[in-house]
Amino acid sequence: MGLKPSYTWHDGFAMPMGFPREAFGAALEYSAEPGDFFVATYPKCGTTWAQHIVYLIAHRGVPLPPTSPMGEAIPHLEEIGTRMVARKPAPRYLKTHLPFGMTPYHEQARYLYVARNPFDCAVSFYHHTRGFVKHYDFAEGRFEDYFECFLAGEVDFGDYFDNLLSWHEHAGDGNVLFLTYESMSADPRTAVTRIGQFMGADCISDESLLSAVLQHSSFESMSKDQQRWSSRRPDDMPAFIRKGIVGDWENYFLPSQAARLLEKLDRRCRGTGIEALWPDLIAEARRFARNTQ
Ligand code: A3P
Repeated sequence: MGLKPSYTWHDGFAMPMGFPREAFGAALEYSAEPGDFFVATYPKCGTTWAQHIVYLIAHRGVPLPPTSPMGEAIPHLEEIGTRMVARKPAPRYLKTHLPFGMTPYHEQARYLYVARNPFDCAVSFYHHTRGFVKHYDFAEGRFEDYFECFLAGEVDFGDYFDNLLSWHEHAGDGNVLFLTYESMSADPRTAVTRIGQFMGADCISDESLLSAVLQHSSFESMSKDQQRWSSRRPDDMPAFIRKGIVGDWENYFLPSQAARLLEKLDRRCRGTGIEALWPDLIAEARRFARNTQ
């Protein structure tokens, strides 16, 4: 029996240890308002990147001052709860990892959802869980231990597929913009333009503004900022900006693990169109899985 991360349970939902229970309850009761803007993701799917893009667009390309954490500018709803959110002046920008059905909804609120392939998500979530000792107590955990929890959906914020499926069903809604991490990575200019249009910002017709958003939200720039300010990060806080690539999963997965994750992907997502989000990656995972079958 492998090591398992520890969580706290909030109404049957696993959360990182230390997230206040009251905040979670209050988050679910938050009544979304017209003009609210949610950055919604399953953990490790590009949340921080999307937050930076949204912040930059909303602030005409001027980056967040390094002394103010992103968690204050675009706070995590489940972590801070309604009372703090209510204090924020409109328009409110919020981050959430909740599935669609649990996310506060208003038809005049907007929701940017970023999906990432489950293979890279699992690897990134593993590093996060191992690194954040006070939240998970998993410092000695190995990838193979974490993989079992991820595959079973027994990790914080619930099952990856529950989250993805719930949002993907709404991908065509007028107030939802559904993007993938991989498409953002392949063509950030188009992604930023689409996010800008979705936010109703005229910025995106302005080339210098678009360049500023792209520059300040690039992996290189975000990673440099993170290093510069790492002394302010608690010791046990892992880097949110790590490798930032598509395909790191091949450095961690065994073929048998890839086969099992593919089987779950197929079982949960067949007929939904989700597999078409990552055709090349899934083909590569199938090849990889066959290696030792
Ligand atoms: P890796 O661990 O694979 O490197 P989240 O913000 O949801 O926790 O997601 C973190 C993941 O997004 C990490 O993936 C991180 O490196 C990646 N990431 C953060 N900023 C990025 C950027 N500007 N460009 C590409 N990837 C980025």
